[in-house]
Amino acid sequence: MKTVNIDWSKLGFGYMKTDLRYISKWKDGQWDEGALVEDNTLTISEASTALHYGQQCFEGLKAYRRKDGKIQLFRPDQNAKRLNNSCKRIMMPEVPEEKFIDACIQVVKANEAYVPPYGIGATLYLRPFVIGVGDNLGVKPAPEFLFCIFCVPVGPYFKGGMAPVNFITSDYDRAAPYGTGAAKVGGNYAGSLYPHEVAVKKGFADCIYLDPMTHTKIEEVGAANFFGITHDNKFITPKSPSILPSITKYSLMHLAKEYMGMEVEERDVLIDKLDEFKEAGACGTAAVITPIGGIHHNDKLHVFHSETEVGPVTKKLYDTLCGIQFGDIEAPEGWIVEF
Ligand SMILES: Cc1ncc(COP(=O)(O)O)c(C=O)c1O
Repeated sequence: MKTVNIDWSKLGFGYMKTDLRYISKWKDGQWDEGALVEDNTLTISEASTALHYGQQCFEGLKAYRRKDGKIQLFRPDQNAKRLNNSCKRIMMPEVPEEKFIDACIQVVKANEAYVPPYGIGATLYLRPFVIGVGDNLGVKPAPEFLFCIFCVPVGPYFKGGMAPVNFITSDYDRAAPYGTGAAKVGGNYAGSLYPHEVAVKKGFADCIYLDPMTHTKIEEVGAANFFGITHDNKFITPKSPSILPSITKYSLMHLAKEYMGMEVEERDVLIDKLDEFKEAGACGTAAVITPIGGIHHNDKLHVFHSETEVGPVTKKLYDTLCGIQFGDIEAPEGWIVEF
């Protein structure tokens, strides 16, 4: 097998060109077979809808190296389903689930040398995306589409152990009440760059978005979902049509219930009722869980468990999910694709 000269311990979350990426074209009502290509640039029409009308969506998932040297994907079927929900919302053709998973496997196998070794928390991040391309001027769906996947090795989010960070509520919204918040479309992220910058300038890790209708309920923590652990040990997470359904969040809900015997609830989380929680966290593929030290809202910082140490329930959830993702703990049926 080819080897690459990478200092795995220094990996962060940044772009690096790997050997091969997958590209498939939709034209005349169907996807072609797709191919692995060396070129990491795309040549598309200047009139592509992806460039003018934001007709594009993406996904993010990881390939994990196990102790026995094999590689596994974590719930790629869920990413396929979410990609297709995003595609439907913005009038792009769906990618068949088998095609999506097969393309993920092709990309990982073709770049196997870039899958970091077991034991350091590093992974191979996959970035699937669908974009509208081809000559078009009016506001309407593109005549052609591309489905692509590239991959990049990334380091663990926390290098020196999990550390809580503080967040501040934003006056801006990432999505409209019945807009595209539940779809992973680029426009949501363009709109989040400025509120993120404002939060960082004030000394916070990121901002908390409140519900766009009333600004009284927590929706998202930057580009991650929120969860809180109540004093009577329930796992609570907000429910709203403008939240992006996090695969990590639904996985944690399952683990909280089935592995840790906790009650789980998806319901409103009021920003004025944070003292119902003894611990809180932000969850997503990138960091798995970021413990929330405190939330700054209306000139007051509400601290949960601690500003410096991760709480025990959060830590247990994190260790269990990471154990499953790296193949050390048996996964619920259907969660793992190994090869
Ligand atoms: C806005 C937003 N919320 C939540 C998440 C977490 O989702 P997941 O756990 O599927 O990575 C992401 C990342 O994809 C995101 O971009």
